[in-house]
Amino acid sequence: MKEWLKKRTSKRQYELLRMLAFEYKRWKCRISAPKSYVTDIVRLHLGSGDRKLQGWLNVDMIGSDLDLDIADGQLPFSDDQFSVIVSQHVIEHLTLEDELIPLLKECFRCTKTDGKIWLSTPDMRKVAKSYIEQDSDDMIQDRQSRLPDWNFGDYPSQHFVNDMFHQGLEHRNLFDFELLEWVLNQVGYDHVTRVEEKDLIDAYPEFPPRNDDYQSVYVNASKI
Ligand SMILES: C[S@@+](CC[C@H](N)C(=O)[O-])C[C@H]1O[C@@H](n2cnc3c(N)ncnc32)[C@H](O)[C@@H]1O
Repeated sequence: MKEWLKKRTSKRQYELLRMLAFEYKRWKCRISAPKSYVTDIVRLHLGSGDRKLQGWLNVDMIGSDLDLDIADGQLPFSDDQFSVIVSQHVIEHLTLEDELIPLLKECFRCTKTDGKIWLSTPDMRKVAKSYIEQDSDDMIQDRQSRLPDWNFGDYPSQHFVNDMFHQGLEHRNLFDFELLEWVLNQVGYDHVTRVEEKDLIDAYPEFPPRNDDYQSVYVNASKI
C-alpha cells in the first residue's frame, strides 16, 4: 500500500498524507487516553518507539505500554510519581509553545523531588557548525556509519541541513543546549547539565546505544 501510494503521489503530497496519518493516530490516542493511570513503575520512557525497556513505563502512540498523545497538555499520572523520565529524539517532533512546554510542565509535576529528566535531540549547533566547517559531509558520514540502509542520494551535502530541520515535515524545532536549558528552567527543573549518551547508559544500562552524540545534544535536569 505504501509503495502504491508513493508511486501515485508527489513527495510533498506523500509527506502530507503521512502527517495526516500521524495526526489521526494522535487524535485516536487523545480520545482513548485514560484520565488517570495508576502504576508502581517509577521510570517513565516517553516516545519509546520500538525500544520498549523492562522496568520502565514505555509510552508512545502505538504498541507501547500506554498509548498516549504526549503532546495533548496532560499526562494521566499522579504528582511525584516518577523518579526518572527519559525521552530520546522525541521533543523535536513537538511545537515549543503549545506542545513541548505543556508536556514538560506535566513531566515536572509527575517527577518526584530529587528526581531527574533526561532528554536528547538533534543539536542545532552541531548541525550549523558542520554546515559551516564541512558542508555537512561529516554529519552525512556519521549517519551513514550508524544507519547503513540510509541513503542521501546524489544531493549536495549542504542539503542535509534541510533534512535535519524538517525531516519530511516531522520535525518542528531543533534545539541546542541553551534553548533546552531555558525550556527546562521555564517549567521548574534545575541544574540543567550537558551530558553524553554514555552518561545515560552508565545510569541505565538497559538503554540500547544510539551512538548519536555526534549529531545530538544530551541533557539531564533535576527537580529539587
Ligand atoms: C525518532 S522516534 C525515537 C524513538 C526512540 N525514543 C528512540 O530513541 O529510538 C520518535 C518517537 O516519538 C514518538 N512521538 C512523537 N510525537 C509523539 C506524540 N505526540 N505522542 C506520543 N509519541 C510521540 C513517535 O511515535 C516515535 O516513536
